[in-house]
Amino acid sequence: MALRSQGGLLLPSMLVLTLAFTVSCTIASPRIGNKIKSVTFLSPEFVLEPGSVENRFYYSIDFPRGHVALKSFRAEVVDEAGKSIPLHETYLHHWLVGKYYQRQDMAENNGDQKIQPENYIFGGNSGICQGTTLRQYFGLGSETRKTDTHIPDPYAIEIGNPAEIPEGYEEKWMINVHAIDTRGAVDRLGCTECRCELYNVTVDEDGQTLRPGYKGGISCCYDQTRCKVRKGYEGARRSLYLRYTVEWIDWDCGIIPVKVFIFDVTDTGKRLNVSIGSSPEIGCQVEFDVASCNTGSAVSDGCIDVHRTSLTMPVGGSVIYGVAHQHTGGIGSTLYGEDGRVICNSEPIYGQGKDAGDEAGYIVGMSTCYPEPGSIQITAGENLVLESNYSSTQKHIGVMGLFYILVADRTPNPTNFWHSPIHIHEKIRVSKSSLAVVSLLGLAVVGVGLRHRLKKGERRRRL
Ligand SMILES: *[C@@H]1O[C@H](CO)[C@@H](O)[C@H](O)[C@H]1NC(C)=O
Ligand SMILES: *[C@@H]1O[C@H](CO)[C@@H](O)[C@H](O)[C@H]1NC(C)=O
Ligand SMILES: *[C@@H]1O[C@H](CO)[C@@H](O)[C@H](O)[C@H]1NC(C)=O
Repeated sequence: MALRSQGGLLLPSMLVLTLAFTVSCTIASPRIGNKIKSVTFLSPEFVLEPGSVENRFYYSIDFPRGHVALKSFRAEVVDEAGKSIPLHETYLHHWLVGKYYQRQDMAENNGDQKIQPENYIFGGNSGICQGTTLRQYFGLGSETRKTDTHIPDPYAIEIGNPAEIPEGYEEKWMINVHAIDTRGAVDRLGCTECRCELYNVTVDEDGQTLRPGYKGGISCCYDQTRCKVRKGYEGARRSLYLRYTVEWIDWDCGIIPVKVFIFDVTDTGKRLNVSIGSSPEIGCQVEFDVASCNTGSAVSDGCIDVHRTSLTMPVGGSVIYGVAHQHTGGIGSTLYGEDGRVICNSEPIYGQGKDAGDEAGYIVGMSTCYPEPGSIQITAGENLVLESNYSSTQKHIGVMGLFYILVADRTPNPTNFWHSPIHIHEKIRVSKSSLAVVSLLGLAVVGVGLRHRLKKGERRRRL
C-alpha cells in the first residue's frame, strides 16, 4: 500500500484520521458554523437607461463547485463602483437562480441567450408547478435586500452530488435578472407592474398577440422593451450588475438536506404530462391582477383582495424555512395545513425613505419563518391552502403570490451532540498532498485533537 511506503510514522496518524472521519459521519455532528465559506460574485454587466428593460439569462455563472451544502444566497443590484442602486432608479423585478446539467463535451456557453435543448437537462427544484415554471432554487425581487435566506444548521441545500448528476453531464447554474430602469418614468408603479400601455406593447416576446384583456405583466416588459419616460428627461446610460453572495460548506453526512418547494396562489392544480409552460387552464399562472375596490360592485371586503388556492404536497417532511413573495400592494401571505394550522405567515416590509434597502412604496423585505425543527410537519399528499392578500384600494397589474418553503425529510438524531465543540473538523479536511505535512509537523496538535474526538465518539457509540 502506498501509505506504508511513506514510512512507519504516517501510518498510525492515518489510521486515526480515517477513524475520526468515520466517526464524524455516523455519530458526531459537525459544528457547521465553524467552516462556512462565503464568496461574492458579480453577474455579467447589463446596461440600462431611463425606461429600458433587461431580462437576461446568464448561463454557467460563478457558483460554488463540487459536492457542497448551500447555506444562503443574497443578491442586489450595484453599479460599476459597487454602489447599491435604489429600487426607484432600477426596479429589480426578479432574479432567479436555477440548476441545469450540460453535456461534458460542450464548449463553454457564457451568457448565451439561446441554448440548444439537446445539450442540456433542466434541474429543477422539488416542485410543484408545471414544467420549468417556478423551478428555481433561489429567487427574489425588490425584497432581496431585507429578506433572510440563511438555512439553519444542520440543514442545507445539497448540490453537486455526483450520484445525482446524469452520466456524461456536469452540473451548472444559471441566473436570470429582470431589471427595469424607472428613472424619469411617467408612471413608476405602472412601469414596475409592466402595464402594457406604458410599454406600447401589443405582442409578446415571441411575436404572439397578447390574450384579450391582458393588461400587464411579464409579457409586456420583456428584454429590450421600454417603459414611457417623461419628455425631456435625461438620465445617463449605466452599467449595472447583480452582486450575489453565496454561503456554503463542504458536504458532510451530518448535514440534513432540504428540498425546495415553490407554491403559486394562481395554481389551478391542473397538470398535463407534457411541459407546456402555462395556459389559462393549466398549472401556475405566476401573475394575476387585483381590481380596485372602488370600481368593483361590492366594497364589503374592506378593500382587501384575498387570493386562495389549494395545493397537494407530494412528499412529507419538516418545514425548516418559509417565505412569501409579493409585489407592491401585498399585505401578507399565509400557508395553511389541511387542518387549518398555520405553516408559515410571511409579511412584507415596506421601505420608508429613499436609500437602497429602504425605498418608500416598495417591498424591501419579507418576514420569514424558522419553525423549531420538527414542530411543523407536512404529510405526503396533504392538501395545503395558500392565501395571498393585497390591498385593493387601487388596482394592481401583474402581481404575484408565491410561497417558498424548505422541507427536510428528517430532523437531527437526538443522540447527536449538537453543542459539543469539535474544533478539529476543519483540519481533517486536508488534501492528500498536505496530509503528510500535517501528519509530520502537526502530529502533536492534530493528534491530540483527534484522540480527544475519538474518545468522544466512542463514548457516544456506547450510549
Ligand atoms: C407604439 O407602437 C406602434 C407600433 O408598434 C408605433 O407605431 C408607435 O409609434 C409606438 N408609440 C410610441 C409612443 O412609441
Ligand atoms: C400521462 O398521461 C397518460 C394518459 O393519461 C398516463 O397514462 C400517464 O401515466 C401520464 N404520464 C405521466 C408521467 O404522468
Ligand atoms: C387575508 O385577509 C382575510 C380577510 O380580511 C383575513 O381573514 C386573513 O387573515 C388575511 N390573511 C393574511 C395572510 O393576511
